[in-house]
Amino acid sequence: MKNKMLANILYGKNEPLLFKETNIPIYKPDEVLIQLHASAFNRRDYWIQQGQYAGLRYPVIPGSDGSGLITQIGESVAPILKGKAVIINPGFFWGENEKAQSPKTFKILGMPDNGTFAEYVSVPAAYVYPKPPHLTHIQAAALPLAGVTAYRALFTRAALLSGEKLLITGVGGGVALTALQFAIAVGAEVWVTSSSQEKITKACELGAKGGVSYKEPDWAEKLKKSSGEFDVILDSAGGEGFVELLNLAAYGGRISIYGGTIGTIPALSPQKIFWKQLSILGSTMGTQSDFQEMVHFVNKFRIIPIVENTLPLSEAETGMKIIKNTNQTGKIVLDHQQ
Ligand SMILES: NC(=O)c1ccc[n+]([C@@H]2O[C@H](COP(=O)([O-])OP(=O)(O)OC[C@H]3O[C@@H](n4cnc5c(N)ncnc54)[C@H](OP(=O)(O)O)[C@@H]3O)[C@@H](O)[C@H]2O)c1
Repeated sequence: MKNKMLANILYGKNEPLLFKETNIPIYKPDEVLIQLHASAFNRRDYWIQQGQYAGLRYPVIPGSDGSGLITQIGESVAPILKGKAVIINPGFFWGENEKAQSPKTFKILGMPDNGTFAEYVSVPAAYVYPKPPHLTHIQAAALPLAGVTAYRALFTRAALLSGEKLLITGVGGGVALTALQFAIAVGAEVWVTSSSQEKITKACELGAKGGVSYKEPDWAEKLKKSSGEFDVILDSAGGEGFVELLNLAAYGGRISIYGGTIGTIPALSPQKIFWKQLSILGSTMGTQSDFQEMVHFVNKFRIIPIVENTLPLSEAETGMKIIKNTNQTGKIVLDHQQ
């Protein structure tokens, strides 16, 4: 077997990704070597390039999402896995407590360990799952990180039920769009916000009931007039807009947060939180059970992740620029066979 591969390597903060030859990873006894057919971007990859992430280490091959074929297995891995088409749960070593990951052990593929923007990646065998058979490698690569984050935030944390009213803010985001698909599948009534009317229209085509632009100063009032209050709100923006979410939540509402794209949330009214009996729930990626349930869910409802753009592996730097501008509605995927 050859020992060199092509990969997108990040050599430091604010550097462009360089597409270069490097060594194929050496897999440990409990690991598998995967020949990746596709990988996908998350905002995390952009944060890492910007140096805005904990535990940075360079050089690194970024990329948390991937789909491909197992080509080699470590000596303690079941031989049956060889040749299987798989996706990777990128959240490794969660720990014993289902309620939260252990900060001592938890890590995400693509930093500090090398990730999927390469021809090959090695990962512990415990974190590979059969690729959903109804998905191509390109579609499957778009699923893992967004899928497990959306699944845990919506179902494990906020316990969203069929018939409940849900608001998803910034629906153009990768996790947000996946959450929209999941929530529609279980029969929730979904409303959205976005920076663009085009993205709201697309969300409505996917089954959302309606939406408003968060760029309008009176967006929350306008939304409340058409939708009423929400049982569940899913947010990854934070910032000033978050204050309005307390007004938009119904009594007993649950607000699930998995990101802070805009940054710090200004002063919140404790009265609104306790009087309305609100639950504010933090959520990060998911356990192995969340991931397994998410894959089962995707297979059951035959969910197809939305891919906006496909680029060759050699053009990962272009993908970073697309992520930076947040113009996309759906995932940016690298096709490693192009
Ligand atoms: N905790 C976790 O496990 C976890 C997992 C994944 C992601 N995250 C975090 O969650 C965030 C989203 O990740 P992603 O990969 O889905 O990102 P993404 O695909 O790049 O999407 C970001 C989206 O944020 C929305 N947005 C921007 N400004 C907004 C505002 N003022 N109000 C509401 N929405 C706004 C935009 O929506 P429109 O395009 O509709 O305007 C944009 O598409 C990031 O901060 C990421 O780091 C956390």
